[in-house]
Amino acid sequence: MKLAARLEAYQTNGLDGVLAAKDAQTIAFAGGYPDPALFPQAALAAAWAQSASEKTLQYAGPTGDLALRRQLAQRMGQDAVACTAADLMLTQGAQQALDLMAKLLLDPGDGLVVEGPTYIGALSAFDAYQPTYYEVPVQRDGMDLTALQQVLATRKVKMIYTVPDFQNPTGTVMSLAKRRALVALANRYDVVILEDAPYRQLRYRGVQLPPIKAFDTEDRVVFVSSFSKILAPSLRLGWLVAGPSLMAPLRALKGGCDLETSGLTTAAVAAYLQRNDLDRHIARLKEVYSAKMARMHTDLAAALPSGFTLTHPEGGFFLWLTAPQGFDMLAFAQGPLRDANVTVVPGSGLSPFGHFQNAARLSFTGASLAEIDRGCRRLCAALTAAGRPAQVVAR
Ligand SMILES: Cc1ncc(COP(=O)(O)O)c(C=O)c1O
Repeated sequence: MKLAARLEAYQTNGLDGVLAAKDAQTIAFAGGYPDPALFPQAALAAAWAQSASEKTLQYAGPTGDLALRRQLAQRMGQDAVACTAADLMLTQGAQQALDLMAKLLLDPGDGLVVEGPTYIGALSAFDAYQPTYYEVPVQRDGMDLTALQQVLATRKVKMIYTVPDFQNPTGTVMSLAKRRALVALANRYDVVILEDAPYRQLRYRGVQLPPIKAFDTEDRVVFVSSFSKILAPSLRLGWLVAGPSLMAPLRALKGGCDLETSGLTTAAVAAYLQRNDLDRHIARLKEVYSAKMARMHTDLAAALPSGFTLTHPEGGFFLWLTAPQGFDMLAFAQGPLRDANVTVVPGSGLSPFGHFQNAARLSFTGASLAEIDRGCRRLCAALTAAGRPAQVVAR
């Protein structure tokens, strides 16, 4: 059976095996999982119970529930992005928005800039459209715009994908100056910016910056976010904000893909937002997650072997661990770390070119404080053992 050519571009580097938890003993620092104890179960159940009606159980069209889009437009306005419900589309998680944007813009071979390293799920969404990838390094203040300009000046690029807030996987925040400059570059070289911001509301310290979309002067920034990290991932509910010229074809693509996002889910989330204070819920998430991040950072900083570096982000879900050059993180994760019952995401899967072989992404949100302590002890012990020269066996 011959599969479509688009499958040839799919990256399979053994990550599935690494990400899967072996058993109940495994401490998972791999997946970007929210803490299940923080799901607002009772409030969501109550919202669901009252949301089934003749209207919400019927087809409603590709842009999704108007009440929820109005609520989201209001929240976007408070976040410096002036928009109306007409500029918003509800999606099956942020992930669907990434897929729709690639479908909208990319013919096989078209130029696509991604950050190096980047979100693994974005690469799986984009791979299907067979782009020509350009990887631009992430610096402490976001994408390296000098490197980006070099790419834009010499290659035909259609889209730039960025996670400017608590980037997945490095935790980096793009500076205000770079947000403005990025829009100016996109205007100059006629490129669309895909701004993916599911961690945006999870800032634990420092000053919040406006989204890149706030500086958009030509409707060429598409902002994407999600309820996955702030309410629950299984809602599969995200949204995108786009100007009219992109929204019309996006509606057509969304219709062709799944007709619409579940009307019952969107009505229930709209009811939840009406009856509950989402910001108070997010404040609680921030309290718990910032304590978890601090614990993981302290544990690792105290026990990592020399030569390893670790980021200390101001928010989000992840720490980024870099080993000395030459260290093979994938082999380590598939071997000694798996034996120690800990999972991380090796960096090589987070680059279209398999770069970052000596790095790993660690998520601190899904594990308890005790699991973080245990997992970090095991991780550091395994790294220390891996750094020791192999024992010479006398014959
Ligand atoms: C940067 C980024 N974008 C998109 C997604 C997908 O989110 P959703 O669950 O809303 O589809 C994730 C999930 O981890 C993510 O980290």
